[in-house]
Amino acid sequence: MNAVTESPAFALDAWSARQLAAVEQALMCWVAPPDRNPAPAGLGDAMRYAVLDGGKRLRPLLVMAACEAVHGKPDAALRAACAVELIHAYSLVHDDMPCMDNDVLRRGKPTVHVKFGQAQALLAGDALQALAFELLTPDDGSVDVRVQALLCRMLAQAAGYQGMAGGQAIDLASVGKALTSECLHDMHRLKTGALLQASVMMGAACGDSTPAALAALRDYGAAVGLAFQVVDDILDVTADSATLGKTAGKDAAQDKPTFVSLMGLPASRNYAQELLSEAHHSLKASGLGQTAALAALADMLVNRRT
Ligand code: IPE
Ligand code: IPE
Ligand code: MG
Ligand code: MG
Ligand code: MG
Repeated sequence: MNAVTESPAFALDAWSARQLAAVEQALMCWVAPPDRNPAPAGLGDAMRYAVLDGGKRLRPLLVMAACEAVHGKPDAALRAACAVELIHAYSLVHDDMPCMDNDVLRRGKPTVHVKFGQAQALLAGDALQALAFELLTPDDGSVDVRVQALLCRMLAQAAGYQGMAGGQAIDLASVGKALTSECLHDMHRLKTGALLQASVMMGAACGDSTPAALAALRDYGAAVGLAFQVVDDILDVTADSATLGKTAGKDAAQDKPTFVSLMGLPASRNYAQELLSEAHHSLKASGLGQTAALAALADMLVNRRT
């Protein structure tokens, strides 16, 4: 199947650069700033190393794009975007540790435990997770308290046993096993899809929309969330470590069940494109006017090379 792209007119690079300027600035300011609010005993260095200066920032971009689609409040969305990225960064720090995937390269740099030691990596992950929820609960009146509670609940569910942590547990329990298609879908939906879908829904929670629009955005988020991990599985086989900034070929080396091991490369590529078409279909069904950024992000996320 040819790559699907349905958003040729939208200038995604310029849009993303604008959003990410704000996100990077906020992360620099909020993640244990050494001059104003340093963390003790080197913990802040490990936290900042894990978060700043790297990563595609796809989850923050999805938050900002969904907020734009519902004409939501950018202040709340910026906090949500950073909070989701902190959870993601924490999940990567722990995912790379010797007790999980035992990786030495992440975002083109030595992994956090290689650079700072395992105990500090564990604590940096813990602290980043806690900081995410602190960011969502400002006490300056800038975010309505009902929205704060909603955002916290969405992020907690996506990060915890019903989401990322649950999916990671399945991942570790599945090493060396040939999963059924249903089990593999479940694992990917939880370990990766949940947080990407939550990014979309948290952006939407920063504004008002109809139940039908929310349902369509949920479908969009589910499709791009699953597609994202299918593509991650593909890139593990097809890209090299220098391009990815992380060790290529490690799924097969560690005998992890993936979409590529289940259905092979051509069918995995087709499946990612099918999911992309589903995502576009859901956006059209949402009835929302300003979905160009969400559409372009779906294209980028599925057709990416890193
Ligand atoms: C990698 O996510 C981990 C998965 C959930 C598959 P990304 O590919 O979004 O990693 P960064 O944030 O760009 O480093
Ligand atoms: C990790 O999936 C998903 C997370 C929750 C971090 P992978 O183990 O496939 O991610 P990479 O390939 O190491 O980035
Ligand atoms: Mg893993
Ligand atoms: Mg990994
Ligand atoms: Mg992977």
